[in-house]
Amino acid sequence: MGDKPAPSDGRKHGAASDPGARHVAIIMDGNGRWAKKRALPRSIGHQRGVEAVRRLVRGIDGMGLECLTLYAFSSENWKRSDDEVDDLMNLMRKFIKSDLPEFITNDVKLKIIGDWQSLAPDIVAMLEDALAQTANGKNTLAVALNYGGQHEIARAAAKAAALGEITADAIEAQLDTNDLPPLDLLIRTSGEVRLSNFLLWQAAYAEMLFVDTLWPDFKPEHLQQALDNFARRERRYGGR
Ligand code: IPE
Ligand code: IPE
Ligand code: MG
Repeated sequence: MGDKPAPSDGRKHGAASDPGARHVAIIMDGNGRWAKKRALPRSIGHQRGVEAVRRLVRGIDGMGLECLTLYAFSSENWKRSDDEVDDLMNLMRKFIKSDLPEFITNDVKLKIIGDWQSLAPDIVAMLEDALAQTANGKNTLAVALNYGGQHEIARAAAKAAALGEITADAIEAQLDTNDLPPLDLLIRTSGEVRLSNFLLWQAAYAEMLFVDTLWPDFKPEHLQQALDNFARRERRYGGR
């Protein structure tokens, strides 16, 4: 063994030969700028953002993904005006109502990450119902709601501590994403190059892609291009 500590397990940070992406996450940014460019209210940008989500979920079949994780509302987005927060929550209500039947038909398994239990009681009830109705789905659509990566890690560390073991593996086992495949690719739209508190732990060895497209303009073809880009990358995980 010499000076080498035991190698960390390959599952967490990828195997030697990486197949295609299993888990892609997207920071869906740019709804406001999309609307501003057209002199429309931000709420219209958010509506078009929901349409982009629907289009993507419909178009993702055949791309080989096991999980798509979408950042829909951050724990910092409460700082926006009451009107904008109301708009976003109402869009959430409408989206679940209108698209749940399609998720069930298309074998989509819904998952929610973040502190969603502290959202409005009617939204929590809708989400619980949607989770139950899609529990047997095949491919996962994970939606980050009232999500903050630092808080997720803190919650997971507290749970790990309560179980008596504060190691990276023990913390990881308590993350909201503990039942999802490792994150392969993290995409942010709208040209901003930052994580904004999204999947901080999970991004440790994810590939990143920042694209200028504003979220309402994002189409399944853009995701396919991102996956093609991902396939050309060499992941090293610190080894050679
Ligand atoms: C992303 O679009 C949607 C949410 C954060 C909920 P933005 O509303 O952040 O759009 P920009 O960044 O102002 O263009
Ligand atoms: C990140 O976008 C949150 C979501 C996409 C839900 P923001 O627009 O809130 O992030 P900042 O404020 O530009 O960092
Ligand atoms: Mg933004």
